[in-house]
Amino acid sequence: MGRLKDKVAIITGGAGGIGIATAKLFPEQGAMVVIADLSKEALEKASLEINHENLSYCVVDVSKPKDNEKMVAYTLEVHNKIDIFFANAGIEGTSKPIAEYPDDIFDSVIDVNLKGVWYGCKYVIPKMKAGGSVMITSSVAGLKGFAGLGAYVSSKHAIIGIMRVAALEFASNKIRVNTIHPGPVNNQMMRRIEKDISPENPEEVINGFEAAVPFGRYVESSEIADMALFLASEDSKMVTGCMHIVDGGMLV
Ligand code: NAI
Repeated sequence: MGRLKDKVAIITGGAGGIGIATAKLFPEQGAMVVIADLSKEALEKASLEINHENLSYCVVDVSKPKDNEKMVAYTLEVHNKIDIFFANAGIEGTSKPIAEYPDDIFDSVIDVNLKGVWYGCKYVIPKMKAGGSVMITSSVAGLKGFAGLGAYVSSKHAIIGIMRVAALEFASNKIRVNTIHPGPVNNQMMRRIEKDISPENPEEVINGFEAAVPFGRYVESSEIADMALFLASEDSKMVTGCMHIVDGGMLV
């Protein structure tokens, strides 16, 4: 208990599967949490589910610089500081070969998954005045190619570059920066990917992914939250600039 006592955390994508699981865990450890996501409705629903007095929310589109500034201003107004930043918002795009990949979907994936992380690092980290920890959600698709997922794979590789540079640039401010690389997670994003790949037979896709994981199952959102807690806490105080894989052995 109390591994994040009195810390202030921002979690983007906070109304989604991994965001909600993390926003449940962090306040149990003493943190005050701001969840940020696209819609007020989704954030209100998530808040009801999380149900903790140390939680508040902010409507943010991470792909917009001004929204990132708004998220910082809101957090500083309410809590007066930022210690932990979980840059976790992301979208999957679609599953199509490069030659057929729609340009507008490619752009939207880059806007959210790459530019969203960039703006988050640009606007949030400099305001972490007393040191802290930044976690960026990449993917196993940030470490390996998956045919059909060109936009997603590109964006998730690229943010490792942001993580490495930020880890170097902010080390003297005692701010650690790391990426988390989930395997397929048992939540809404995978439900959408399964249907996109095989609308008629999503079960087949599930079986295929599970067979690719030596542990034989999807990762749970709460298991990504456990890694986020380790990285946010003092337990990882000498860990920075690293990639942390949570995939049941998929990439072995
Ligand atoms: P999710 O779809 O449940 O949650 C993603 C959240 O991000 C949603 O609530 C969505 O509204 C929000 N979001 C999307 N665009 C946004 C924007 N422009 N501004 C603010 N919020 C935005 O999926 P999940 O799994 O919780 O995703 C979290 C992160 O984990 C993502 O970066 C995703 O790419 C990554 N990831 C997910 C895996 C999975 O199998 N679900 C596997 C590997 C990585």
